[in-house]
Amino acid sequence: MFFDPSLSKRKSRSCASCHKPSLAFTDGLAKNKNLSDDGLILRNTPTLLNAAFQNSQFYDMRSENLEGQSIDVIRHKDEMHGSVDDLIEYLRNDSTYQDLFDKAFPGSRGNIKAMHIQNAIAAYVRSLKSLDSKFDRHMKTDSSILSTDEIAGFNLFMGKAKCATCHFIPLFNGTIPPSFSKTESEVLGVPASKAKGAKVDPDEGRYTIHKMEPLRYAFKTPRCEMLRLQHHICTMVFISRWKK
Ligand code: HEC
Ligand code: HEC
Repeated sequence: MFFDPSLSKRKSRSCASCHKPSLAFTDGLAKNKNLSDDGLILRNTPTLLNAAFQNSQFYDMRSENLEGQSIDVIRHKDEMHGSVDDLIEYLRNDSTYQDLFDKAFPGSRGNIKAMHIQNAIAAYVRSLKSLDSKFDRHMKTDSSILSTDEIAGFNLFMGKAKCATCHFIPLFNGTIPPSFSKTESEVLGVPASKAKGAKVDPDEGRYTIHKMEPLRYAFKTPRCEMLRLQHHICTMVFISRWKK
């Protein structure tokens, strides 16, 4: 289903159109196009690697779990603009899907429900784990896999640069140790552009969901998955070099 464009209106887009496996489940763009192709969607496409290990989905934390998340995207006007009823109809009329659903949810033949679809997509997203990066291997084995520069960068990230006061290891996100049962957001005042004197980006973050003043411009502290995999190391090297 993740790769099936039939989930969207006019069968034009699948989850994988934006979350491309070859790009660590991102699209490599600042922002992707909206479905009607006359503008951009509001936000950047995050990686799905390790999404399952955070306690809220989306930058504004509007969904607590992956089950809720998939239906949000399928329905979203700019993203897929699909209809759950049409999707159920489509799956019921496809014998391969019928067989697969009946295997996963015994008794669902002829009676596929929205919850089955949500659970199936969420199960796939939960399988997208990455816990064996260069960084992970170094931490697990303590066997000098990271270079001296990288270790210096890591120490800066964890220490003086205070990045880790918000980006907690091991995922470098806002999910708080030791219980990892809550995910934090922060108001950083991210500017709309790099230009000098730029105003704060108009995206109001969590405030769009809950009209509470402290949540205006609050965003979830993301996983920095790209940091963990590749740029993570680059950033560490970068900050260590920058410090020198
Ligand atoms: C048009 C491109 C697009 C399509 C198609 C799309 N997504 Fe996304 N996805 C995004 C964007 C952009 C966000 C961030 C939106 C936000 O935070 O408000 C996102 C967020 C997510 C998140 C939350 C990740 C996080 O760290 O918060 C998950 C999980 C996800 N998408 C899964 C899916 C699934 C499953 C599908 C198919 C049913 C799908 N996406 C289809 C662009 C897309
Ligand atoms: C006060 C908390 C806080 C501190 C300190 C902090 N960050 Fe962040 N970081 C965030 C939040 C919140 C976001 C998301 C902002 C947004 O979505 O607009 C973010 C985003 C990022 C991203 C983008 C990740 C992505 O997937 O889009 C990177 C990279 C990053 N931070 C690295 C760092 C580094 C390196 C440091 C230390 C020099 C640092 N952060 C310090 C809270 C923090």
